[in-house]
Amino acid sequence: MQTTLEKQPDPVVAETSTVRVWDPLVRIFHWSLVAFFTIAYVSAEEIQFLHEWSGYAIAALVGFRVIWGVIGTRHARFIDFIYRPSTVIEYLKSLFSGRAKHYRGHNPAGGAMVIALLSVLALLTLSGMSLAAGEGSGPLVGTWFATLPEGFIEELHEVLANLMIFLIVGHVAGVLVSSLLHRENLVRAMITGRKPVKEGE
Ligand code: HEM
Repeated sequence: MQTTLEKQPDPVVAETSTVRVWDPLVRIFHWSLVAFFTIAYVSAEEIQFLHEWSGYAIAALVGFRVIWGVIGTRHARFIDFIYRPSTVIEYLKSLFSGRAKHYRGHNPAGGAMVIALLSVLALLTLSGMSLAAGEGSGPLVGTWFATLPEGFIEELHEVLANLMIFLIVGHVAGVLVSSLLHRENLVRAMITGRKPVKEGE
């Protein structure tokens, strides 16, 4: 018969079977970004004030993430997940052979996608604020951005929004493929901040 003591989980095993990867700020950043992007996308041309304010929230989140990419925790830093283009290509090729290397933080393709998402979001919010400035509102009023031709900026804003949808589809597909390949739930990791420790890590 087992005693109560024997039924307790081994604290060492419990502690070492997962590892903290995403700090709370990265996780709050991610899910707030998902929420504000959804609000901004759905409210476009429908509820203007909601569209503009969710756009400002996205701009602030991107600004925060750039700073956190320099001074943040280990796997949040750009230096941890920006790889040479040749490494990204090698990683993508290795996906097809089913022998892709496991990374604790972002893998090389995931890292490149993060940079693409942040860059397009920065341009998207900048073009939106330029449009608002042309109409006399927002932080860019009175700057060079307010003088840009409205038709061109409007077109650019729309193209960038569509590009974001394209990237998001690729991002979510990448997350799912990587989760299946390495038998780990990356969505859960972005909620709890922890990933299972792989052999040899
Ligand atoms: C419901 C849909 C989404 C899911 C399930 C999802 C899931 C994830 C996961 C699991 C990661 C971590 C990937 C890894 O472990 O390497 C991640 C990272 C990221 N995702 Fe998403 N994502 C979603 C939507 C979005 C959207 C809509 C955006 C942009 C508007 C976005 C932008 C990002 C960014 C920028 C990162 C990097 C996080 C960081 O390092 O700060 N995601 N996402």
